[in-house]
Amino acid sequence: MKLIFLGPPGAGKGTLAAKALEILKVPHISTGNIFRAAIAAKSPLGLKVKDILDSGKLVDDETTTGLVKERLSQDDAQKGYILDGFPRTIPQAEALAVFSAVDKVVNFDIPNDSVLERLGGRRTCRKCGYNFHQVFDKPKQEGICDHCGGEVYTRDDDKPDAISKRLEVYRAQTAPLIGFYRERNLLVDVDARPAVDQVVENFKKSLHISS
Ligand code: AP5
Repeated sequence: MKLIFLGPPGAGKGTLAAKALEILKVPHISTGNIFRAAIAAKSPLGLKVKDILDSGKLVDDETTTGLVKERLSQDDAQKGYILDGFPRTIPQAEALAVFSAVDKVVNFDIPNDSVLERLGGRRTCRKCGYNFHQVFDKPKQEGICDHCGGEVYTRDDDKPDAISKRLEVYRAQTAPLIGFYRERNLLVDVDARPAVDQVVENFKKSLHISS
């Protein structure tokens, strides 16, 4: 199954993707994770995008679309994928339609106050990328990842100024994709407000997945 996860920053797209890929057995392709890995490796791409990510703005469409096109051409993505964080603009969606046909677009339905609570409390493992939350999913030992022992930190774009910018960018540039995909009969709404296990159930129900 070829899926797009669409929703505001902090809606829980990455958290649900980690659960959904165990069910669907397809790769989780997150443009945010690709950019953060490039920044950590100090690669030319990382150096180019670091300030953009830290400020909460979007990387240009050409760079992002090129990366996704290349990633989707790899063998493991032929039978399906979860695209998390792409497309984020109408030009990206139009470009994607040329090189891959998605089956469904999962729209994370969540109010603004929940998003602010989730982003404000998120703590991320620098090594494996696992997302903790200081209230909903705390590491057993403060500052240390339960899964790989890496350092748990606050992403630069989870600081208050960058959060406001990301939400503004989402409303202006990404939210119009809801209408874009609804018109094409691809949109499936998932109630993303409850706890993670219930969101997984809502996702399975919306997509008629029985396992
Ligand atoms: P990206 O990494 O994609 O950021 P995002 O869309 O803002 O998404 P997040 O990772 O912040 O949130 P999420 O929805 O995955 O939530 P999560 O599961 O972590 O992009 C970062 C940047 O890269 C962009 O700002 C841009 O600069 C650039 N970029 C990326 N893609 C691009 C593109 N296509 N074009 C241009 N630029 C691009 O959950 C959040 C927190 O809530 C966690 O702490 C989690 O533990 C908790 N949580 C999750 N679900 C629940 C739940 N059900 N109940 C309670 N807590 C929960």
